[in-house]
Amino acid sequence: MKVVRTIQELRDQLHGQNRIAFVPTMGNLHAAHLSLMALAGRHGDPVVASIFVNRLQFGPNEDFDRYPRTLQEDIDKLQRQNRVYALFAPDEREMYPEPQSYRVSPPTDLGDILEGEFRPGFFIGVTTVVLKLFACVQPRVAVFGKKDYQQWMIVRAMCRQFQLPTEIVPHETVRDPDGLALSSRNRFLSDKERREAPHLYRVLVGLRQRLLEGERDLARVQDACTAELVGSGWQPDYIAIRRQSDLKTPTPQQVEQGEPLVALAAAKLGATRLIDNVEI
Ligand code: PAJ
Repeated sequence: MKVVRTIQELRDQLHGQNRIAFVPTMGNLHAAHLSLMALAGRHGDPVVASIFVNRLQFGPNEDFDRYPRTLQEDIDKLQRQNRVYALFAPDEREMYPEPQSYRVSPPTDLGDILEGEFRPGFFIGVTTVVLKLFACVQPRVAVFGKKDYQQWMIVRAMCRQFQLPTEIVPHETVRDPDGLALSSRNRFLSDKERREAPHLYRVLVGLRQRLLEGERDLARVQDACTAELVGSGWQPDYIAIRRQSDLKTPTPQQVEQGEPLVALAAAKLGATRLIDNVEI
């Protein structure tokens, strides 16, 4: 695997390739990231990965400074997996050469709800860096995880709206055996919190079960799930049942007619904020 730090080296390595499959990450790679690389390999060749902790998507009180940076371990993991042809690991000056950057703003009805409401500016940071990374790598396909459901939808919409030639391929959420979605932030959990953490997924699975059994009052289920988490020591930001197509609230009629839905949740356990979702 080639490890390249500059856009020029990257372009030299990828010259003439037109079937590139790309997996952008912020590093501290775990099994879910590696599974995204494997899926990328089924959709294109060569596979290119990136590791860049993007300051622009972190809020002032978020964990940019303590976000785990483990580049050498990440390189070792990718080398052992042997799927990735080139790893692009630029520094901040390479990605943001000017003190002020152009920014991509997602439409407010997609970018300012849910995660966007609780993390103002987050999706502007994500779409801006993803557009820049796409300009550097020029992938034909890029793989995004459904664990970050709204991020996946926003990046897909950006590609459509900017007429980018990159197809966005989703990857199912990868979980530990107890149900907890893998995340670089799980390492911040204490042992006790780690035992409690899969509760978030269990609550969402319970929610799905209630809808499948005929419950139609979405507000009631959302409130019950929120109360269950609060009772177990969580501080929920939101639990929301939305349409898969656009993350808007479904009408009662749509719920009745089996509109594809997704239940999305974000909640803090101690100092660690976790997100998860289930499709219904
Ligand atoms: P990061 O959190 O490193 O995630 C990189 C990719 O891995 C994303 O597409 C994310 O959805 C996916 N992923 C992480 N955990 C997953 C899991 N348990 N199951 C399935 N997919 C999972 O997301 C980012 O980085 C950044 O916002 C980025 C897109 C790189 C822009 O900076």
